[in-house]
Amino acid sequence: MKAQSIKNILEQKVISPSAKVNGWVRSIRKSKAFSFVVLNDGSCFDNLQIIVPDSLSNYEEMTKCLIGSSFGFTGELVASQGKGQSVEMQAKELVIYGKTDESYPLQKKGTSLEFLREIAHLRPRTNTMAAVFRLRHALAQATHEFFDKNGFYYINTPIVTASDCEGAGEMFRVSTLDLNDVPKLKNGEVDYSKDYFGKESYLAVSGQLEAECFASGLGKVYTFGPTFRSENSHTARHLSEFWMVEPEVAFADLDDVADLGSDYIKFMIEKAMERCPSELAFFEKFYEKGLQEKLKNVLSGGLTKVSYTDAIDILQKSNQKFEFPVKWGVDLQTEHERYLCEKHFNGPVAVMDYPRDIKAFYMRQNDDGKTVRAMDILVPGVGELIGGSQREERYDVLSSRMDEMGLSKDEYWWYLDLRKHGTVPHSGFGLGFERALMYISGMSNIRDVIAFPRTSGSVEF
Ligand code: 4AD
Ligand code: MG
Repeated sequence: MKAQSIKNILEQKVISPSAKVNGWVRSIRKSKAFSFVVLNDGSCFDNLQIIVPDSLSNYEEMTKCLIGSSFGFTGELVASQGKGQSVEMQAKELVIYGKTDESYPLQKKGTSLEFLREIAHLRPRTNTMAAVFRLRHALAQATHEFFDKNGFYYINTPIVTASDCEGAGEMFRVSTLDLNDVPKLKNGEVDYSKDYFGKESYLAVSGQLEAECFASGLGKVYTFGPTFRSENSHTARHLSEFWMVEPEVAFADLDDVADLGSDYIKFMIEKAMERCPSELAFFEKFYEKGLQEKLKNVLSGGLTKVSYTDAIDILQKSNQKFEFPVKWGVDLQTEHERYLCEKHFNGPVAVMDYPRDIKAFYMRQNDDGKTVRAMDILVPGVGELIGGSQREERYDVLSSRMDEMGLSKDEYWWYLDLRKHGTVPHSGFGLGFERALMYISGMSNIRDVIAFPRTSGSVEF
């Protein structure tokens, strides 16, 4: 017999003379001629109550099992007499798959998120992590649905690359050279021609440059994959390995993709409400008061757009004491971003047209000679959720910008070549998928919304 999920049984109120369930024990309570077993299988918060008669051959063995043991039951599903559940099972057969002992770290009492990170292999069995990952699944599905519905093609860009898209030098090297015996050139530098790919290669920080090639052929594309950054930011919002969603749109300007970003965020929120109402209620209860109201307000509101120059003005007039002083030309720090979206605008806000000197080489220059068509969408509680731009599609302008910034045109020849042959205005952005999850779940540490977080100094599991 095929096992059913507890979610299905409880939602459909399945009444059946014979059914099978598998799961992990949340509690065992002994009574006279039978025991109550509370079983959870991760498909939903709710547990299935199972009444186990002492006539079962392995009944004695079962009563000695502890929380966390894995059982399979076959039995009759009946309407429940007790309160709290619609259906319960009268067991006829029990399989004990695996036992635990007293060292099982997930006992009944609440366990801190910090501690759970140390036992990341077991934390999927907790209500919080199971809720996060059910939501993560729903948002990933929503991502594909949103872009598919809007005429985008899903592409997969390479993970190993030779180019530093963001130019921030935060790349992890990919190499098969023997670190103890590195081949050197006459001048003492490493001879990368002897390395696996014949030149320096890295894990990608973004799939954007390759996505631009595909937008320049298919029109509208998006990537959804892992990206890697060796940045030294020990914050609750940075990972060394995170998942990014990057749409790229030909014949679109910056406003078009800012609106696209806003629609995409709203679509994810709608789907979260539709598919994960009990998860959202749970997050509201335990992690962020007012979460559902916040999300509803995003759905009913529009996207506020403000220029970087005006944002600086707002910050300067705010009378706030910032750790990093504000003046035109500085990059916005998290404290500034959070002031803007949390205190001033009280919702998502797109900051546009940043100074060109603090942004990447590929962004389209404005006529003022000082700013570029860049935008960040900031959201309360998280800060930067989306970073995007209109791309420089003019060969000459891009070429001289690369010269100014000392970028190798030999390395990026193909990127420049795109501008030589049938170039078009185009724009795109990257959304940090874990940050979207933080925003929609109210979880405040990015390490708790990815299965096995990788951060500087931490690569366990
Ligand atoms: O702003 P970023 O660096 O933009 C790019 O990489 C562009 N190439 C994207 C594009 O235009 N196609 O990164 C995009 C987003 C950020 O807004 C943030 O949400 C997330 O990626 N992000 C991180 N998330 C977790 N940990 C990190 N270390 C992150 N760095 C960026
Ligand atoms: Mg950014």
